[in-house]
Amino acid sequence: MSSIIEDLIARKVFNNRGEETIEVDVVTANGFGRASAPAGKSRGKNEVVYYPQGGVDAALKKIDEQVAQELAGLNADFQEEIDTTLHEIDGTANFKGIGGNTAYAVSMANAESAANSHGLLLFQFLGGNAANMLPYPLGNCISGGQHTRGKAPDIQEFLALPHGAATFLEAQTANTLVHRKIGDTLKKKSTGFNGGKSDEGAWIANVTDEEAFEIMAKTCEEIGNELDFECGFGIDVASSGMWKEKEEKYVYEREGTKRDTAEQLEYLINLTEKYHLAYVEDPFHEEDFESFTELTKKTKNCLVCGDDLFTTNNERLNQGIKQHAGNAIIIKVNQVGTLTDATDTIENAQRHGYTNVVSHRSGDTTDWHIAHLAVAYKCPLIKTGVVEGARIAKLNELLRIEHFLGNRARMADLKLT
Ligand code: PGA
Ligand code: ZN
Repeated sequence: MSSIIEDLIARKVFNNRGEETIEVDVVTANGFGRASAPAGKSRGKNEVVYYPQGGVDAALKKIDEQVAQELAGLNADFQEEIDTTLHEIDGTANFKGIGGNTAYAVSMANAESAANSHGLLLFQFLGGNAANMLPYPLGNCISGGQHTRGKAPDIQEFLALPHGAATFLEAQTANTLVHRKIGDTLKKKSTGFNGGKSDEGAWIANVTDEEAFEIMAKTCEEIGNELDFECGFGIDVASSGMWKEKEEKYVYEREGTKRDTAEQLEYLINLTEKYHLAYVEDPFHEEDFESFTELTKKTKNCLVCGDDLFTTNNERLNQGIKQHAGNAIIIKVNQVGTLTDATDTIENAQRHGYTNVVSHRSGDTTDWHIAHLAVAYKCPLIKTGVVEGARIAKLNELLRIEHFLGNRARMADLKLT
């Protein structure tokens, strides 16, 4: 079986927001891989640059004129060599040269082509025989913050987490039931609710944070009782978007309140206790490692997760490890560019007891590779919505993987520490 790269083809496609993005095909002597890049809306300051100046068109030109020639003849099996070559061609620290999303699409398509050249599925190729664990799905049910317009909660995401499920199918079934029931509740409760959903397929309704918490708590409990397993929930505060540097306060626009750092900490401790939150993402802005440390110390049975804080960047994770800031990390490969960069971070997180949460972006395509990454690298959680095409592409791929594994399939080892 030869994985020698023969051709690299790039094209413009669109994501679920109708934004242009890049798709890459890698053709090897014996196989083929295709990947397209996602895009964030509430992006971290420390993410790589998505595209060179000139956008997707400029990125396509770079692939045709530079990347394709450099990669032709290399062996797709050697992911590190491919990714190092991408960094060399780029020549900058933040992928400004060719674009982080360009690197992402090439890197992921390359991995897929290597797997395909060996007649393997991506999770088998990357994770070997030992890869048999499915992640628990964190499913976005109610949207707010930067993912919405008009009146909606200030907190960006209210996420179901069916951590008592015995299989991925059970877990995803629970999330769909929670999502549906919340839709029914909002129809009764929220005046003007028109069934609108965000890019991630979560409901957008004219409710306060407090109302959203109550709805989540009640619904998750009811569905948990109905299915006879524990169904909890969590939030993504995405607080960098709320933080006003000049005032040094978090502005809750909808609620009409402002909280300084100490008040934010107290607010979140109270919420975590009151609603038994299993998961809190980006409770503080992206430079406040210290407050992450405080919250991690003061909460029990709750994952304190860094997204904008870490931006999948190993150096930033090292800083977090040193300060015991958080105990979970969001992995979005396109925050750093290549698969190798992301796996370095995943492995570092594992070594230091951080829970890896592989994640979609709010702007995403029907690309399903992150489903394979979660299984290959034993990530206990995947955050990829409940409904909507780009989310379903990944969730259904996990169902296929679970089906494929048959009685070898296990749920991940999720510790809510
Ligand atoms: P995104 O953010 O809009 O940048 O994808 C989602 C998130 O904050 O997790
Ligand atoms: Zn986030």
